[in-house]
Amino acid sequence: MLSEVAASRFVTPLREGGSMPALVEADDLGLYVLKFRGAGQGHKTLTAEVVCGELARRLGLRMPRLVVVDLDPALGLGEPDREVQDLLRASGGLNLGMEFLSGAVGFDPLAFEVTPEEAGRIVWFDALVNNVDRSWRNPNLLTHRGELWLIDNGATMIWHHNWPAADASAARPYDAADHALARFSPDVAAAAAALAPLVTEELLAEVTARIPESWLAGEPGFDSPDALRHAYARPLLARAAAIHDRIEGLT
Ligand SMILES: Nc1ncnc2c1ncn2[C@@H]1O[C@H](COP(=O)(O)OP(=O)(O)O)[C@@H](O)[C@H]1O
Ligand SMILES: [Mg+2]
Repeated sequence: MLSEVAASRFVTPLREGGSMPALVEADDLGLYVLKFRGAGQGHKTLTAEVVCGELARRLGLRMPRLVVVDLDPALGLGEPDREVQDLLRASGGLNLGMEFLSGAVGFDPLAFEVTPEEAGRIVWFDALVNNVDRSWRNPNLLTHRGELWLIDNGATMIWHHNWPAADASAARPYDAADHALARFSPDVAAAAAALAPLVTEELLAEVTARIPESWLAGEPGFDSPDALRHAYARPLLARAAAIHDRIEGLT
């Protein structure tokens, strides 16, 4: 499991994102971007954040620390916005928290230079997990103290919405034409050579063990949370070996 904190103060909603995350302070005095379990995208988005965020960090990509945030909806009841109220009411209990990078700004491809090596590692990683939400329109990358950080890995692993067809879905290529880093000549071959060997069954078991058990309960076709954890690992293991040859749209 991820480490768990309890929200102690609702600071403000963050209106940049589609899912309306919020900034909260927790009982460890840390500031976290809280992603609501009750948001329209559903709890699978949060599971994807855990799997991909924990994997990215273990592969050496910059990715803020993740925690589970226990939320008492009463904390934010002073918030005037109805939408925020509804999110709070739907999200009592465990939510996802991402360490807040104070002073970070959204990545601007015209103002920030990325090396082919770093671009290659990020594009390869996004191909691995099939991230469809790192486009130049919406990069979900932040720059912080002169370095590039990944955030928002929720729109990934589309196959987890239809498990019976997961292997076929995960066998498909990745279209990188709209990727925010496509213009930086990403060296995906070098990234694959360095990173693919690290994506082992052991590493994926460690990563999927971090998904909170309650987010795995009740998935049709799986008789235990561990069976579902294994289902998350399997397509990634298969994809790691071959995806670099199936990244389309890079010139
Ligand atoms: N760890 C973080 N540190 C600082 N700002 C963040 C962090 N995570 C998200 N943000 C800010 O909140 C916005 C929305 O977050 P994001 O995770 O992309 O949510 P959504 O799923 O709604 O797109 C980001 O565009 C960024 O401005
Ligand atoms: Mg986003």
